[in-house]
Amino acid sequence: MVKLIFIEPSGAEQEVEAPEGWSLMEAAFHNGVDGIEAECGGSCTCATCHVYIDEGYTDKLEPMSSNEDEMLDCAAAERKANSRLSCQVEIKAEFDGMVIQTPDTQI
Ligand code: FES
Repeated sequence: MVKLIFIEPSGAEQEVEAPEGWSLMEAAFHNGVDGIEAECGGSCTCATCHVYIDEGYTDKLEPMSSNEDEMLDCAAAERKANSRLSCQVEIKAEFDGMVIQTPDTQI
């Protein structure tokens, strides 16, 4: 299991554990993390699972697809250099301790 720390829009921290192979969105959804809508269920067509990734971990991420890149431009909150769609990021062991911030709004 991989430990992840989500920072919700309220500023509250929620520490969760999730298996490798799940997406960050699945880890948030199954642990009741606030601030991720995931309206399309993970098919990269809604951009309501936008998150900001701990900058100390961004080099551990797989590059984003062109589809994710395009969808991020549709995200409701400001897109930043560390923005990703959480449904497109597959959890790996080296993510242990990663902090993921959810934006103020998804819609
Ligand atoms: S859940 Fe819809 S784009 Fe990620």
